[in-house]
Formats: sequence, structure tokens, C-alpha cells
Amino acid sequence: MPCTVIAGGFWGDEGKGKIISYLALKDPIDLCIRTGSVNAAHTIWYNGKRYALHMVPGGFVQEKCRLLVGPGTNVHVVQFLKEVEETGVKNRMGVDNQASIIEEKHSTQDKSSAHLKGLGTTGWGVGPAIEERVRRTAKLAKDVPELKPYLTDVSDEANDAIAKRKNVLLEGTQGLMLSLFYGTYPYVTGRDTSASAICSEAGVGPTRIDNVLVVFKAFMTRVGTGPLPGEMSKEEAQKRGWFEIAAGTGRERRSAPFNFELARRAATVNGATQAAVTKLDCVYPKCEGVREFDELPREAKQFIGEIEKQTGIPVMLVGTGPEALDIVDRRK
Ligand code: IMP
Ligand code: MG
Repeated sequence: MPCTVIAGGFWGDEGKGKIISYLALKDPIDLCIRTGSVNAAHTIWYNGKRYALHMVPGGFVQEKCRLLVGPGTNVHVVQFLKEVEETGVKNRMGVDNQASIIEEKHSTQDKSSAHLKGLGTTGWGVGPAIEERVRRTAKLAKDVPELKPYLTDVSDEANDAIAKRKNVLLEGTQGLMLSLFYGTYPYVTGRDTSASAICSEAGVGPTRIDNVLVVFKAFMTRVGTGPLPGEMSKEEAQKRGWFEIAAGTGRERRSAPFNFELARRAATVNGATQAAVTKLDCVYPKCEGVREFDELPREAKQFIGEIEKQTGIPVMLVGTGPEALDIVDRRK
């Protein structure tokens, strides 16, 4: 740590939630700030229970961690309150005064707009909510009575914590290939998803960041439409154990093998200092539950080595199973 940005390297669903939950428990994280919006579901397995969080930061598993939703975020009030209840974090949860609000009408607009339907959006209404913010007619968190107990200045809290050398984590959503600027436009989400944008949405300047951790999955998946290099059939994906159903929307994910060129691009644009690779056990079943690098099978080690060679950054964390602690941690 102390201030780390977590960014997705592919099309989202790389397992950021799992990596965040591990760091939260292990380092431990003092402050975790969620960016983006309700369209992303971060899956966390903790104490045998599965959480799919759309609003509450993944750092919730660490009981001492302060949880914040940044000013660049779009808050879905109903979903937010539901998750606060489910995770029991009311007394350590804050929302920035200037976060904007995503409303039911935005979801209706999302689902009824032909061009958005063509992109295969999640239907939560994030695109229309961002449009409304840009128009400067959006409701802000400070205008919503139910959010009153949570209101705070997230940038102030974050910079204060960083000045005190606390462990701060900025939780990005989706992945670089879904970025409005760097992704497969127009098949992208409504905002930039790169590390720089994550900093901006949280109110932390680039000179305050110590680590940018880009998260890759050992194979690639994508939901919605748009290109996916190396895409395989559903049958092939099932055969390899790479077939997934989306945590947030229940949609079937498309799959493809790991792409080194895209990984290199993600490392570059994010200015990544290190990488995490999740679900290595889905590609090399003998990795399951392994927590020491030396115990990984040779092919798996070679794969990790190839990622390091092609991206130019070290792979410091390797996911070997669903639980938060199923990780090979190569940091000293
Ligand atoms: P939107 O973000 O709902 O507007 O959807 C735009 C595109 O981003 C669609 O292809 C969605 O499937 C994709 N997308 C949005 N959020 C996520 C996510 O959390 N994981 C994976 N794909 C996402
Ligand atoms: Mg997800």
C-alpha cells in the first residue's frame, strides 16, 4: 500500500472484488473508496457467504475499514441502502455530498433506447444518469434525505488518510476495454475506467498514488456486444471450465483465452506498477487452493512469467480459488 488504485485490465469481471477483499483483510486497508456505479457487481466470498456488491466497497470484509463512495460516482439509493443493510456497515459508510444519483427513469431510458440496447448495457441506467449529470440537471447525494447520515467530503477524508500514511484503496470498476476513451467504442460503458479516472472520481491526485494494481483474469470474458479477440464457442468455454454467468445481471459471459497484447495495453494506459491474475485454477486446475508460488505447476509459473515479460510489470498476486484468502501473495 499505502495508496493503491485497483483497475480492471480487460472487460470487467476480472475478479477485482476478490483481490480487494484479500488486501482489505491482509494489509489491512484503512479506507476503501468505491468509484463508478451500480452497473458493476464485485463478487466477494467471505466466510462461506457470497456477496455481489454494486455500491458498497469491497473493503467491507475488514471490520476496521472506513468505506466511502466517491464524488464521481452515481449512487443508486435503493441498492445502496440494501447493501449497507446486508453488509452491516452503516456506522462506517460514507457518501460524498457531490456524488450524483441514478434514478428509476435512467434505467427506463437505458432499456428503451435502441442504441443502448444494441450495446447490451446492463440496464441499470448508468449511461443516461451520466448524461444527466453532464447536462447539470442531476440530483446529488446531498439532495437525498435517506443519504443524510452518510454524507461526507470523500476527497478530504482520502487525502487526510494518505497524509497519515494509512492504507487507502481506490476501487475501480469494469476494465480498460470498456473505457469510454480506451475501450472498444461504442461498445463501452459511459465513463473512463482507467486508473487516472478512478483517482479523479475519488478526489485523489496522481502524485498521491503509490501503486496501480491492474487485475487480469487468467482468461478473458465479456458480457454485452462488441469485439472479443479469440472468442470461443459456449461449448468450448464449458469444456475448459471458463463459462461464467454474470454476478450482476445473470447474463452468460462470452469467453476467450488471455490476450497478452491487450494486457500490455492495459498496463501501459493505467500506468500499472503491478498486476494480479485471478482464476489461475480455472486454467491450471492443479493450482486450486495453492498459496505458495513454488507449489504452482510449471506451466502455470511459465504463464505468469510470460505475463510479466509482455506487460513489463510484476504479477504480485495470483488467485487460486474463490475465497478471499485463496491467493499466492508474492509481495514481501
Ligand atoms: P453500461 O455500463 O450498463 O452502460 O453497459 C455498457 C457495456 O459495459 C455493456 O457491454 C455491459 O455489458 C458492460 N458492463 C458494464 N458494467 C459491467 C461490469 O461490471 N462487468 C462487465 N461488463 C460491464
Ligand atoms: Mg462483475
